[in-house]
Amino acid sequence: MRFLSSLAVAACLVSASLGAQIAHKALPNGAVSPDKLAATPSHDETWWKHAFVYEIYPRSFQDSNGDGIGDLNGITQRLDYLQKLGVDAIWIAPMFPSPQVDFGYDVSDYVAVDPQYGTMADMGKLIAQGKAHNVRIVLDFVLNHTSDKHQWFLESAASRTNPKADWYVWNDGLPVSTSGLTDYQKKYEHEGMVPPNNWVSVFGGSAWEWVPARKQFYYHKFYKQQPDLNWRNPAVEKAMFDSMGFWLDKGVAGFRLDAVPTLFEDTKLRNEPEKGGLNAQGDPNLNTIYTDNLPEVHGVIRRMRAMVSKYPGDRVLIGETYLPNTVELDKWYGGAQHNELQLPMDMLVGFPRPKKGTSPLNAAVFRQYISEVETQIHGSQPLLVFDNHDNVRSIDRFTDGKHTNQIAKLIATMLFTTRATAMSYYGAEIGMPTTTPARKEDVKDPIGITGWPKEKGRDGERTPMQWTPGPQAGFSTNSNTWLPIPKSYKKINVQTETGAPDSLLNWYMQLLALRRSNAALHEGGIVMLNKDNADVLSYVRTAPAGSAPVVIAVNMSAQPRTITLDLSGTGITGQTAKTLMTSDPSLQPVTSLTNVVLPPYTSWIASVQ
Ligand code: BGC
Repeated sequence: MRFLSSLAVAACLVSASLGAQIAHKALPNGAVSPDKLAATPSHDETWWKHAFVYEIYPRSFQDSNGDGIGDLNGITQRLDYLQKLGVDAIWIAPMFPSPQVDFGYDVSDYVAVDPQYGTMADMGKLIAQGKAHNVRIVLDFVLNHTSDKHQWFLESAASRTNPKADWYVWNDGLPVSTSGLTDYQKKYEHEGMVPPNNWVSVFGGSAWEWVPARKQFYYHKFYKQQPDLNWRNPAVEKAMFDSMGFWLDKGVAGFRLDAVPTLFEDTKLRNEPEKGGLNAQGDPNLNTIYTDNLPEVHGVIRRMRAMVSKYPGDRVLIGETYLPNTVELDKWYGGAQHNELQLPMDMLVGFPRPKKGTSPLNAAVFRQYISEVETQIHGSQPLLVFDNHDNVRSIDRFTDGKHTNQIAKLIATMLFTTRATAMSYYGAEIGMPTTTPARKEDVKDPIGITGWPKEKGRDGERTPMQWTPGPQAGFSTNSNTWLPIPKSYKKINVQTETGAPDSLLNWYMQLLALRRSNAALHEGGIVMLNKDNADVLSYVRTAPAGSAPVVIAVNMSAQPRTITLDLSGTGITGQTAKTLMTSDPSLQPVTSLTNVVLPPYTSWIASVQ
């Protein structure tokens, strides 16, 4: 959660209890209350509405040339696995040329491939072979900033008068003698000038960096090697859209838009309100109202959607959208207009922020947010995600320390059985744990170096994929891998889990197969059941005519729980249910809906008879 807490402070203020109250309030824009709703089944077969999108961190997935770093040919070699797992599309974290300060999120050329990951021909092969495996390729596009080594920035930084002088966010700053400066601003004096305001970089320090050649500061939301582009300049938009077009022409299925709410900043450069205290990097905690989620961004996104829509084949725009609530999320779809992103990520369901000392595994909170995203986004398609390369893996965030495997199955059950498009991250399907470096000298992620020991960085969730119990876990032939292979690989790996019927990997595979073959799970609506139950989250997927509805119940407590699933009011008449999948064999194959006994942390999926 460390990354979340820094990037999305403003986004995550909705506490669980506040969320629970919202469920019963009148909803904006004529949306239907979750209490009343059976979400309308979708008859639109657009591929991404039913997709499983799998994130690959290319450095860490498969090394094909023995240099200890994963690469594109490695991904191609693993397409059989991805297809067998049930993956419809892979999102590849940036593989463009980059100085790798932020491991690819500092791009120095948007229309090429970093030689350490392969060549343009390798990318062509991956796209073509992906097609043969029904695995589409989604690229990660970093719009907010470039590398400071990008040609655009080198030119921009050279003088105040060059053709790209206005491509980045430049400012003169203020004389250090100006009255009313914050102490924080004064810390960053250069040649008698200080930054124009108190804005803080997500990765530590002032968000303003001095360039002597221009005698000006430039703004960087992230590292100083990641200067923010000036999206108020139409030439920037054009250059970025042209780069996207380059890849669309090559046949990619769409883009994941990195940090997209951060494209614009307040033109008046107002100080952001301090919230009190210091963050892990020792900077003041700010309410990022002037640098995050500014309304101007929606114009860009609408134009981008229109541009991408001109390409055939349902190309998709996915957003990295850490937002404060579902009402804000709806804006990223374009609300009732449906003319912005097809799939902004819902980060409220998968990254809950429990009160200190309470478990994030909370049925009421999940019920609340799943209901909201079903009902408050004007019929758009939800996208759920529990894992990515910036946050402690969900298996570690949700475990009680004893029932880890059962809880991981429960999270997967939620991910794959609501109506939402599902997104996951390599290794989640085998339960790879977060393996955080134990010593500062082993840290690779710069925020772990500057923030140690409070902030240990994101290496822990980026360790190499664990394929086999053999040397280097089957990731590489090189014993010197870019991050060490975690010790857990002996037991937690694809090969071992493939052969173990009860494994998390087999649970994923069965869930994904069921989601494809079962009509209710594939295209049914969803109605929450037992809405007052504090421990068990349950819902029914209504079915198209001729198919059986499916009930889903997950017990989020350490105690057995007996539930009665009351389907009255849903129009479903069945009284019993036939088990389709359960994580506890004690559940009878056929159960009366009035007496379902769920052992601790059990997931149960059953077809209503
Ligand atoms: C990416 C991070 C990256 C940051 C800056 C994000 O949101 O997911 O990994 O460090 O953007 O590009």
